[in-house]
Amino acid sequence: MLVSAKEMLTKAKAGKYAVGQFNINNLEWTKSILSTAQELQSPVILGVSEGAGKYMCGYKTIVGMVNGMLEELKITVPVALHLDHGSFEGAKACINAGFSSIMFDGSHYPIEENIAKTTELVNACNILGLSLEAEVGSIGGEEDGVIGAGECADPDECKAVADLGVTMLAAGIGNIHGKYPDNWAGLSFETLDAIQAKTGDMPLVLHGGTGIPADMIKKAISLGVAKINVNTECQLAFQEATRKYIEAGKDLEGKGFDPRKLLAPGAEAIKATVKEKMELFGSVGKA
Ligand code: 13P
Repeated sequence: MLVSAKEMLTKAKAGKYAVGQFNINNLEWTKSILSTAQELQSPVILGVSEGAGKYMCGYKTIVGMVNGMLEELKITVPVALHLDHGSFEGAKACINAGFSSIMFDGSHYPIEENIAKTTELVNACNILGLSLEAEVGSIGGEEDGVIGAGECADPDECKAVADLGVTMLAAGIGNIHGKYPDNWAGLSFETLDAIQAKTGDMPLVLHGGTGIPADMIKKAISLGVAKINVNTECQLAFQEATRKYIEAGKDLEGKGFDPRKLLAPGAEAIKATVKEKMELFGSVGKA
């Protein structure tokens, strides 16, 4: 059964580790992530962007697929199905479709509007027992066509949004989606420290988990980060494994590639990436 992310993140913040959010794009990715979480006895969050939602034939299809897998794969670790960077409309659609966790990204609105919309969703999520992630200070880079310049969040605005009763808070601290440029200044631990001082027990979320050096990840966790999002790294691993398979030309026997075989190396590569991240984030054995 899908669960809200509240309990797993409260435990992670108290225990000084982080739960990974891994974005899903199809059946193979979902299966790889769930089976790795089960094998490592780690809680896990499946992230779904609005673009991935459309690609996978809508939110109801995804809820059906994930619920089916939880049963068929006999998954017993806590799993949350989470909308990633949701719009206000997308958040409502996922609540109706049966997601167990929602991110409303109102970071591009003026703070008053972000607060008003987040408040409405806090109420809806509380009634249904869903977890809600809010965002303050946009995360840089490109995420599913949405381009953010990347900024450090204002700690007072973070406190104002945290006090609305959200479950977790994503705050920009110089992190960006996708690969980090060579001249990246690194995470702003000063900002993170100030945000944690104002928001207390609130689990903080680090987006753009791909390519952040291990020592920075560990320091971010020590300063209150309890959820870390990873997407690009799984895509790169999938791409590399699939490329090698195609180059080897194994199934070119006049019949074309067998999709089950073609996607298998990528699925294995995702498992390896997820395992590495769960070990780094410290969530192994915490289910
Ligand atoms: P990366 O693609 O940089 O791993 O970021 C993922 C993310 O933050 C999803 O919200």
